[in-house]
Amino acid sequence: MIDWRKHHKKGLIAIGILLSTSALYKAQDVQGDPAKGAELFKTNCTACHTLDKKLIGPPLKGIVEKLQKEENINRDWLQKWVKDNKALRASGDKYANKIFEEYGKVEMQQFPNLSEEDIDNILAYTSNPPAEPAAAEPKKENDATDLNAINAQKESEATTKIVMISLFAIASLLIWILFKIRQLVKLSQSEELSELNKTRIQSFSELYAKYKIVGQGFMAILAVLAAYGVWNWMMWIGVYKGYKPEQPIYFSHKIHAGINKIDCQLCHSGAKYGKVSEIPSLNVCMNCHKAISEYKGEYLEPGHDRDFYNDQIKILYASTGWDPQKMAYTGKETPVEWTRIHNMPDFVYFNHSQHVVAGEQAIINSFNKKHPNDQIDVVCKACHGKIDTMNVVQMANNFTMGWCIECHRTTEVDMGNAYNQAYFEKLHDKLKKQYGSATKITVDAIGGIECGKCHY
Ligand code: HEC
Ligand code: HEC
Ligand code: HEC
Ligand code: HEC
Ligand code: HEC
Ligand code: HEC
Repeated sequence: MIDWRKHHKKGLIAIGILLSTSALYKAQDVQGDPAKGAELFKTNCTACHTLDKKLIGPPLKGIVEKLQKEENINRDWLQKWVKDNKALRASGDKYANKIFEEYGKVEMQQFPNLSEEDIDNILAYTSNPPAEPAAAEPKKENDATDLNAINAQKESEATTKIVMISLFAIASLLIWILFKIRQLVKLSQSEELSELNKTRIQSFSELYAKYKIVGQGFMAILAVLAAYGVWNWMMWIGVYKGYKPEQPIYFSHKIHAGINKIDCQLCHSGAKYGKVSEIPSLNVCMNCHKAISEYKGEYLEPGHDRDFYNDQIKILYASTGWDPQKMAYTGKETPVEWTRIHNMPDFVYFNHSQHVVAGEQAIINSFNKKHPNDQIDVVCKACHGKIDTMNVVQMANNFTMGWCIECHRTTEVDMGNAYNQAYFEKLHDKLKKQYGSATKITVDAIGGIECGKCHY
């Protein structure tokens, strides 16, 4: 069987090397270093821009060429804009004011600290983005949220073991009782033994009397274990559909992902590259909230006023040690601990990138086919529901084994995307030969219901 995980990594490295060398080659006819630009872009611009989607600001892929062609604007203008767009607007520059109006007069941050060379590098990156080599590298930024995740995992590991032991104990008790009943029934049925029986135990009461002390002790231990197991099991099903804990900052997905259309992956950037989606660190929040210190939106959730939202932003400032008056960090941080909502038992292997990258189109298509009146545009929503309409995140599904399998049985694999073409081509041909070319190849056909794929 093909091991997707191993091949996936090697494939990505290969693709990464290929693309980055070709990008370097192409980059020679542009000023600036796109690799350096990528880093700068990530730290300074991704809060509001992506390459190919509108965020707070316009998409920036090929912006140099675009402005040259459409507005006859050169690199000098871009230099000025990025450094200090406010000054440029104040100077009466026509296009600067036009784009400002177009984006609802949202102010872009100023970047007095970026040198001319830095900005050239960023622009080179937008003209020639190299493929994400980061995908092949191990993630560097292990922040506090990872630690929390690890601790939470350790806790749940212990719980899982206790639950397993309890279940085992209950099962042994049942087997023991069954065995005893069988013995008794056999004894009372057999004529020849009736003589013998007189010297043996003949009823439950006698049995009970004979083994009273041992039996009671044994039962007591089992009862405690069983009760603990049942309690844990109930706690466990408690954290399914609808689970909606309170968080230390009232962070609204509706306001961020819904109304302001911020891309899920701007904050949950892990989803594309690996196993976990990650909760963003507060630095990610501050990319925007250095500039956004007040809630000015029209939307108010019933029961909350503007002051409430402003207080939440103040908590964010207090946690990161940001002084909005001085526009500087004080160095006094009090980290926020988000309560984890989704948490698989750790004998389960779930990988986001498998679903968000390789499975993206397949999952969106299949979901939309099944729910003609409830279409989705972002793959995340197939599993997490319409997060962009939720003020407080809650679990949208029972994340059970049955739920995983049901989708794997009914979702047709997207054999057209690059990942699957590389890994499943041979298998695909074989399956078509075996079942005829009209067969639908669902995830179960590529191994999606093999125990080992989801269990360590
Ligand atoms: C706080 C949000 C924010 C940040 C951070 C930000 N921008 Fe912008 N940017 C905007 C907005 C909003 C616009 C649209 C114009 C406006 O409203 O002023 C814009 C417009 C632009 C434009 C003009 C695009 C066009 O289509 O004409 C360029 C170029 C640009 N930004 C580059 C950058 C670069 C490079 C960085 C990082 C060094 C950056 N921006 C960081 C918000 C931001
Ligand atoms: C501006 C940053 C930001 C954006 C954009 C964002 N999220 Fe979140 N997300 C967070 C933060 C912070 C948390 C943790 C607090 C909470 O649960 O509300 C979170 C929590 C979650 C959780 C629950 C995590 C857990 O503990 O199990 C899910 C699922 C989620 N987001 C999905 C999405 C989806 C889907 C989108 C896009 C529609 C999205 N997010 C957009 C910041 C963001
Ligand atoms: C891409 C930019 C961006 C990022 C990143 C971002 N925010 Fe926001 N945030 C906004 C915008 C835009 C608003 C709405 C402001 C308005 O309408 O006046 C907002 C509003 C808020 C509010 C008030 C409304 C509410 O949701 O309660 C809080 C609190 C908040 N953000 C916290 C956070 C936290 C915490 C993070 C990091 C997990 C974060 N933000 C990341 C752009 C961002
Ligand atoms: C095929 C279903 C599926 C899709 C699609 C999906 N998720 Fe998840 N998500 C899960 C499961 C299952 C978990 C629990 C994982 C665990 O506990 O190990 C989870 C957990 C999370 C968490 C909590 C932190 C973590 O990684 O454990 C966040 C945040 C999250 N998802 C965000 C997203 C975002 C953003 C997207 C879209 C880019 C997305 N998810 C797409 C099933 C999915
Ligand atoms: C909404 C549909 C959906 C749900 C729900 C879902 N998956 Fe998947 N899963 C897919 C698709 C589609 C693929 C195939 C991706 C590809 O093209 O390689 C896949 C592939 C996989 C694979 C790789 C299989 C292989 O043979 O390479 C694993 C492992 C996996 N999923 C685990 C899980 C687990 C664990 C859960 C539940 C927590 C889950 N999935 C829930 C749609 C889903
Ligand atoms: C598509 C992914 C997937 C496949 C394939 C899969 N499982 Fe699971 N399994 C899960 C998930 C997810 C859970 C955790 C469900 C929960 O927390 O309720 C689970 C839980 C379990 C449990 C714990 C009891 C329970 O229901 O919570 C056992 C035992 C188990 N699986 C056995 C198996 C066996 C045996 C196979 C092969 C026939 C198998 N699984 C195949 C995803 C899968």
